[in-house]
Amino acid sequence: MIDPKSSAATASPILKTGHVIARDKAKPAAVRRYLSLDDFERAGRRHLPAMLSGFVDGGTETEAALRGNRASFAAHSLVPRVLVDTHDRSCTTTLFNRVYAAPFGIAPMGITALCAYRGDLALSAAAASADIPMILSASSLIPMEAVRKTGTHWFQAYLPGDQPRIDALVDRVARAGFETLVVTVDIPVPANRENNARNGFSVPLEPSIRLALDGMTHPSWLFGTALRTLLQHGMPHFENMDAGRGPPILARDVVRAVGPRDRLTWEHLAAIRKRWTGSMVIKGVLSAADAIIARETGIDGIIISNHGGRQLDAAVAPLIALPSIAAAVPGMTIMLDGGVRRGTDVLKALALGAHFVFVGRPFLYAAAVGGEALVHHAAKLLTEEIRRNMALLGIRRLSELSHAHLAAAARSMDRN
Ligand SMILES: Cc1cc2nc3c(=O)[nH]c(=O)nc-3n(C[C@H](O)[C@H](O)[C@H](O)COP(=O)(O)O)c2cc1C
Repeated sequence: MIDPKSSAATASPILKTGHVIARDKAKPAAVRRYLSLDDFERAGRRHLPAMLSGFVDGGTETEAALRGNRASFAAHSLVPRVLVDTHDRSCTTTLFNRVYAAPFGIAPMGITALCAYRGDLALSAAAASADIPMILSASSLIPMEAVRKTGTHWFQAYLPGDQPRIDALVDRVARAGFETLVVTVDIPVPANRENNARNGFSVPLEPSIRLALDGMTHPSWLFGTALRTLLQHGMPHFENMDAGRGPPILARDVVRAVGPRDRLTWEHLAAIRKRWTGSMVIKGVLSAADAIIARETGIDGIIISNHGGRQLDAAVAPLIALPSIAAAVPGMTIMLDGGVRRGTDVLKALALGAHFVFVGRPFLYAAAVGGEALVHHAAKLLTEEIRRNMALLGIRRLSELSHAHLAAAARSMDRN
């Protein structure tokens, strides 16, 4: 049974107030100086070569969608209630029959293991220890079977409109033991990522003097991630696009191997629904009409997303699309990602009708800079923000959140 907003009375072990303080004091200064998710992004940009930090940061074309995501949160303000006894508040959340420590998880991100040493494993293990979900990306470079063993049970697929290929992948995901299949549907064609071209980044990776210099001027990434990966694990491959191993990241035929994604339709999704017995989620929905079709197709949940502003430039911000979608599919599990950086952002999304949110870039940067330990720290920071803000807002349970906790901000949204 889906009960996304229910809250168990017990908090995660990492959240018991006294323990947090004791453990924080014991943490090395290197971890303690990260106070918010933005701090990981700043550190990550310094750590990674420009071609990779540009890839992670970037949107498409004018980057209007990317800016719009943050602007949409800034345009909403919270209205607190006072003198409420919140001492036993809890932000635990049940989603697809699992109880998580907080109402957020780690969004799927491709080629993570190029940015962070064994990135998918670090993200998955940290998510498991922080008791939050992590979605393994189709474009990941470590076999899904190995990542599954570290804890994650969510897999995200990029699918071509080719049913036999889809079926074979779905069967592999099931054999590997994943419980929730996320199909990302906002990428019928590759986006126009001008920033990648300007930074010399491409898939396949094209070795050049410029890239070599970029790497050499970021020695901690060069030795700690790139060379260490090559020496210990060989050339990374796209491991999880299909039922079998995909091409290496330097292969010329990577783009061809992807297949005809612009032929993927609701008919394919309906066929997957018949085959896949676990929970099924569509990521990249922005219209109420599509949410209604998803529900009619038997999909269990949707992630309202514009891919972090990385696909259709000027796509509406998920937070803006959320109220009309929530009204159109009452009872359906609604998740959202794009621009979530603070506990207050999470609470705003939940007040507008989301049951759960996902966060991308900050966790990838945390993995790049400090591996599993720093990702865990990032998850803990965001969880603590949510719990602190629940008290400041005057709620004990996330299910108490509603439109009544929101006021329209005076400042208008300027997305251009
Ligand atoms: C480096 C990077 C790689 C991504 N790769 C994928 C992917 O493989 N599959 C997918 O569905 N979304 C992918 N996304 C989109 C994220 O899942 C998510 O929608 C987005 O990052 C959320 O926005 P945020 O980064 O502002 O939190 C990627 C995003 C980034 C930044």
